[in-house]
Amino acid sequence: RLYSIASTRHGDDLAGNTVSLCVRQLQYEKEGETINGVCSTFLCDIKPGAKVKITGPVGKEMLLPADEDANVIMLATGTGIAPMRTYLRRMFEPAEREQNGWHFKGKAWLFMGAPTTANLLYDADFEHYQSQFPENFRYTKAISREQQNAKGGRMYIQDRVSENADEIFAMIENPKTHVYMCGLRGMEPGIDEAMTAAAAAKAKAAAKGKAFDEKAALAEAKKDLESNDVDRMKAAMDKLTAVGAELYQEVQKTAQAAGPAEGEKPAGAKPEGGAKKTEKKADVVDADFEVV
Ligand code: A2P
Repeated sequence: RLYSIASTRHGDDLAGNTVSLCVRQLQYEKEGETINGVCSTFLCDIKPGAKVKITGPVGKEMLLPADEDANVIMLATGTGIAPMRTYLRRMFEPAEREQNGWHFKGKAWLFMGAPTTANLLYDADFEHYQSQFPENFRYTKAISREQQNAKGGRMYIQDRVSENADEIFAMIENPKTHVYMCGLRGMEPGIDEAMTAAAAAKAKAAAKGKAFDEKAALAEAKKDLESNDVDRMKAAMDKLTAVGAELYQEVQKTAQAAGPAEGEKPAGAKPEGGAKKTEKKADVVDADFEVV
């Protein structure tokens, strides 16, 4: 089984010789019988001091940007919070900041999806970071079975993305912004859809603003063109040409932001320099660990 590591290279005690995993026990009913997942149950039941052998892919995957001024948007459901917890420790735990000599100054925004409040993992830590770094950290929860989305359905993180679409969109237009996603694969189309809707809304708003400008410019130009004053008429023509060029550029920009049209192969929902996937094969290491 592969479980995501939820601690930085320094470990939670910062001594550099522990690793934390975030594992949920798999349990389901089958023909009236309760089935427990083999590995998750083993891990959840072992006692401190027990020896375990772990093995796993290692490599430079899903790393944070080196830039202290980068912005980081994190989207997680359930135990998908593991890598995000690591990032947030690196960003906001004072001892981590000191050890790494990396003092995050950008904006970090975590969207966390869980079925109930009780299922929120590391919630107290994240609330604490938010109180300590209000300018740098935003924590938005989607508690599916306790909160409702605008349509009265379960609140999922894509609904939170839709609610904050303008701000998120403005952030991802900035090349310093990186987006990380971890958790249920099922959330991917929903997030994609929410961002596509946000891009379309933005394109529409920009076009509406331009249409208004265009109308005003045309009314003014009409007056100038009817003035029989050659200089005024010439100035009006120049102005109309400039408005046309600006409008063309805006349309190009918003079309790019909106992504491929329906039927085209999607270029991926990731912004420039953004979402990273961990599908690449990496080196494998074996190690003996003791449970603490
Ligand atoms: P729900 O199960 O209430 O429908 P966990 O892994 O701890 O079960 O949490 C996963 C969270 O993600 C739950 O809140 C779950 O909601 C939610 N979820 C389920 N399906 C999707 C989906 N397609 N997109 C986004 N979130 C989802």
